[in-house]
Amino acid sequence: MTRNDLERALAELPFRLLRRLARSTVGPHILRSGKRRMIHAILAVSETNPERIDAAIRTARAEQQAIEAVPAIVPDADAAQKNKPVDLGTFLEGLGVPEPKPFVPDPWQLEALDALLQGDVIVSVPTGSGKTYVAVEATRRAMMEDRTVVYTSPLKALSNTKFTEFKKIFGPESVGILTGDRRDNPQAPILIMTTEILRNLLYDAAGGEIDLRLDTLGLVILDESQFLADPERGVVWEETIIFCPSQARLLLLSASIGNPQELAAWLTSIRPYPCHLVRHQHRSVPLRAGYLHPSGKLTPLFRTVSMPPSPSQAVLHPEAKRLFTQYEEDTLHTRRSG
Ligand SMILES: Nc1ncnc2c1ncn2[C@@H]1O[C@H](COP(=O)(O)OP(=O)(O)OP(=O)(O)O)[C@@H](O)[C@H]1O
Ligand SMILES: [Mg+2]
Repeated sequence: MTRNDLERALAELPFRLLRRLARSTVGPHILRSGKRRMIHAILAVSETNPERIDAAIRTARAEQQAIEAVPAIVPDADAAQKNKPVDLGTFLEGLGVPEPKPFVPDPWQLEALDALLQGDVIVSVPTGSGKTYVAVEATRRAMMEDRTVVYTSPLKALSNTKFTEFKKIFGPESVGILTGDRRDNPQAPILIMTTEILRNLLYDAAGGEIDLRLDTLGLVILDESQFLADPERGVVWEETIIFCPSQARLLLLSASIGNPQELAAWLTSIRPYPCHLVRHQHRSVPLRAGYLHPSGKLTPLFRTVSMPPSPSQAVLHPEAKRLFTQYEEDTLHTRRSG
């Protein structure tokens, strides 16, 4: 057998057999490398000891033939039907833009708006539930009472998006933005800013250098307020809440606060009004989990379309399992040496 024949024969072996062959011919250290390095190591040994490699390849091929000769198990049609994993078409079915329907606020959205009449409000609901609606309606109400509104987000990019969104709803003359990068229409009755900027304005106000009309401030919306738990930036949210003028209502919006009751109790203890908690776990847009292999192949991650109700009920899709094993094998070397 020429070196090229041998190289081709090795490349055609299934990865599992190639590893076994490498283990028996070139030693265990090479098992950590990828397919290509394994083949080169075997080829190098074959130059000094061709009989040994020949024999090892014959054994590997015989083993492969024995595996192929095992008759395929015909699955029980009934059981297969019952446990049939979802196919990609079904998994992707229905994704896209939903049918237009008249807008009806959800009960929790109305509850949050009602509660704002009495005091501060924390909204802790899953992502994509419609927290913006509460923020926009609360802003509208504050404007009708000639009160100013501050809307904060943790990111400049998110503040820019909200600036554009709010200008469309309330008109460009009514909305301003203050971030580290931008200062636009700062006298507007609705101001969008990062939480850091608001904290700094409140600091200045506490020191007597008032930059923001605090006496007319009616509503402070802190979006993404789960940042309170951030080890570095959390203090900014805490100080903003502490320094927030007493007549302004606080509306904290968040998708993921682990202990919102404790937070509501804290707000109630330091603010002049009680804080009401609006919380639910229902997802209006159900999640589907898929596995995307670097080759571009997409497959459902679980055997079902939707997410399993709990991790203990999660059964992986056979194709996702196969692709993941392949990925593990292909990247074993890189991960070990990295
Ligand atoms: N009551 C409702 N009925 C139907 N759709 C709604 C309702 N309320 C909001 N929506 C729509 O749900 C989508 C998501 O809303 P929104 O962006 O406000 O979610 P969110 O809770 O702020 O999410 P995130 O945590 O990602 O910030 C929007 O397209 C919005 O128009
Ligand atoms: Mg949002």
